[in-house]
Amino acid sequence: MQKAVKNQWSSRWMFILAATGSAVGLGNIWKFPYITGENGGGAFVLVYLLCVALIGIPVMMAEIMLGRRGGGSPINTMRVLAKEAKRHPIWGLLGWMGMLAGIIILSYYSVIAGWTLAYIPLMASDHFHGMDAQAVADTFDAFTGNPWWLLLCHTAIIFLTLMVVAKGVCGLEKAVRFLMPALFLILLILDGYAYSRGAFSQGLDFLFASDFSKLSANSVLIAMGHAFFTLSLGMGAIMVYGAYLPKEVSITQVSITIAAADTLVALLAGIAIFPIVFANGLPADSGPGLIFTTLPLAFSHMAGGAVFGSLFFVLLLFAALTSTISLVEPAVAWLGESKGMSRKNAAILCGIFSWALGLLTVFSFNKLSDVKPLFDKTFFDIFDYLAANILLPLGGLAIAVFAAWSLDHHMRHDELNTQHDWFVCWLFVLRYITPIAIFIIFLHAIGIFA
Ligand code: TRP
Repeated sequence: MQKAVKNQWSSRWMFILAATGSAVGLGNIWKFPYITGENGGGAFVLVYLLCVALIGIPVMMAEIMLGRRGGGSPINTMRVLAKEAKRHPIWGLLGWMGMLAGIIILSYYSVIAGWTLAYIPLMASDHFHGMDAQAVADTFDAFTGNPWWLLLCHTAIIFLTLMVVAKGVCGLEKAVRFLMPALFLILLILDGYAYSRGAFSQGLDFLFASDFSKLSANSVLIAMGHAFFTLSLGMGAIMVYGAYLPKEVSITQVSITIAAADTLVALLAGIAIFPIVFANGLPADSGPGLIFTTLPLAFSHMAGGAVFGSLFFVLLLFAALTSTISLVEPAVAWLGESKGMSRKNAAILCGIFSWALGLLTVFSFNKLSDVKPLFDKTFFDIFDYLAANILLPLGGLAIAVFAAWSLDHHMRHDELNTQHDWFVCWLFVLRYITPIAIFIIFLHAIGIFA
């Protein structure tokens, strides 16, 4: 087993940017608003925020810590650390599960990123000018109803991802530096529009007034799954980024910074979208098309809307690409270390798998939209549910248990290298609160307490 990780982030800042680039993506801007809409708003948002604080941040710290300590791909990191801690090599399975989750997520993530790509020329050409909500929704339905368009865009995204992955970590650093702040700015512009032209207080009420009667056990599972999804946790993505993190950087600080930035972006997106939804009498629970049917409406009524609108989708596309890269990085790192594959070939191999699997998502929106093989869900829904709500929390549970219970105490202490009180607090949460919370949420969702 050779160590192929020679890459290192050039500074703490770069790690924060890259990890934030991985975390901030379609999860924040596309998925968070639409699942919030489907799960009734405020109470769901509150559970999601609690999950970020009590499960997300501690697990992120653990994942970065394990990654930096092991210094390789998740599979090898877990094997090395298990050996060091005299535990069973079965912990390597965690890395395998993470690679599987990464390939599954990439398969549908890339289809949605493809929608973003397609909306750039539509916005730039002012296609939505003067349209009402119904016409904007019809455009979306016509687009997703055409499998060839979706296939073309999905293929383009996989291709773009492979190009960046093949170049290695350094290429990534440069892009994130400007794009993230720009995306943030344009979200603020959208918030300003929602404030002046949308049903602002109704939107805020929906997002922040908690009505727990609307919250089902399944919604709680979705909120937890989303905390993992949006922070890129539970599959080794942040672990492999941690492997490139210089020794002296404080893991506590970077984790809190990343989680805070990620949460802020999601909330800003929600604050922009719901006032527009209500001002136009649109349904909040319209599903994965939500941002594609609301934001074009806002941009088409805004001065300079064609410019801002196309810029928004360009930036969202970049945000998605900095996320897709981290979905394949664990697998690419492993194929390099253990199979001696070049980054390029490893990237191509992962890309082929995800592309092929993604065909089922492409067809979920048209030819196979009536095919619901499990629990009345399309293939797209099944992949998303399986990966985000089952595989990631399971991976997170394993990471928490391994880091908090199996690892040697002084190794933990040494690697985290944080203030004593903080360390004790983190360890307590990771030992008891995080695993028990994940466990109870799982049991609830399968109806044990019903
Ligand atoms: N966090 C990203 C988003 O919110 C998606 C993502 C990237 C991801 N890498 C990941 C999700 C690893 C889970 C695991 O869009």
